[in-house]
Amino acid sequence: MMQTPDPQLQFDLKVADEQRIEPKDWMPEPYRRTLIRQISQHAHSEIVGMLPEGNWITRAPSLRRKAVLLAKVQDEAGHGLYLYSAAETLGASREQMIADLHSGKAKYSSIFNYPTLSWADMGAIGWLVDGAAIMNQVPLCRTSYGPYARAMVRICKEESFHQRQGYEIMMTLANGLKEQKDMAQDALNRWWWPVLMMFGPKDDESPNTAQSMQWKIKRFTNDELRQKFVDATVPQAEYLGLTIPDPDLKWNEARGHYDFGAINWDEFWEVVKGNGPCNRQRLEARQKAHAEGEWVREAALVYAKKREMRDER
Ligand SMILES: [Fe+2]
Ligand SMILES: [Fe+2]
Repeated sequence: MMQTPDPQLQFDLKVADEQRIEPKDWMPEPYRRTLIRQISQHAHSEIVGMLPEGNWITRAPSLRRKAVLLAKVQDEAGHGLYLYSAAETLGASREQMIADLHSGKAKYSSIFNYPTLSWADMGAIGWLVDGAAIMNQVPLCRTSYGPYARAMVRICKEESFHQRQGYEIMMTLANGLKEQKDMAQDALNRWWWPVLMMFGPKDDESPNTAQSMQWKIKRFTNDELRQKFVDATVPQAEYLGLTIPDPDLKWNEARGHYDFGAINWDEFWEVVKGNGPCNRQRLEARQKAHAEGEWVREAALVYAKKREMRDER
């Protein structure tokens, strides 16, 4: 007699065997919900992440810098779109995701609630924020959900360009006039700690991590990724001749890693709750852009409808 295959068992075997779960495959409801939350948060972060840098496009110091920054910010828009599409394959609606972002119900990366005060911030963001994003996202190229994993492959290629463009800005400033080097140091001072917070709460305060690791959505814990980032970034700061603003930062021979100082988690949770320096400004900018784009969405729908009717004839 044929046995009806148990869908949960099939799913577990596929995940254990490193096969990808595809949109039409059976999946446990909590797996689907976790992915929708993670992918949509990721998409929102790409889109909101355009704002702090968009702030500097008109003030970039040369035509070359302007063209590069423009391309980088456009890439982030593309990342947002791939990711919204990946979330849609799980049954999430684009309208609902956007509505949740605009109402403040959905979260996005805490880092984008900090202001960009000088041109050096474009360097620090590319170097550190995109650098941290790469640490986080490279393992996601092997995440168990197929559409998410495939979106991440392309995104990671672009992120590495972003990281290099940021580092190149930092290099230019660090080797420039004293005022320029000071500006680079000031940007590093302001961005360092918020970037370490980007990896999310400590493992013992991250209740979803164990389940996400088991589903192979996540491949490393928050603390593991944070440590990898610190280890990779310290020599880069040394090469620039800049000082990481942490008196407790020290190579630990026994661990084979850098030890680093305590993160201000109160600040992190305040930003997550909506009380960071720019939370309100970011949401207002998104809401305004959405309202002003209404006519574009309407026109696109009418155009699509017309084409459909023409094709039917
Ligand atoms: Fe991105
Ligand atoms: Fe990026």
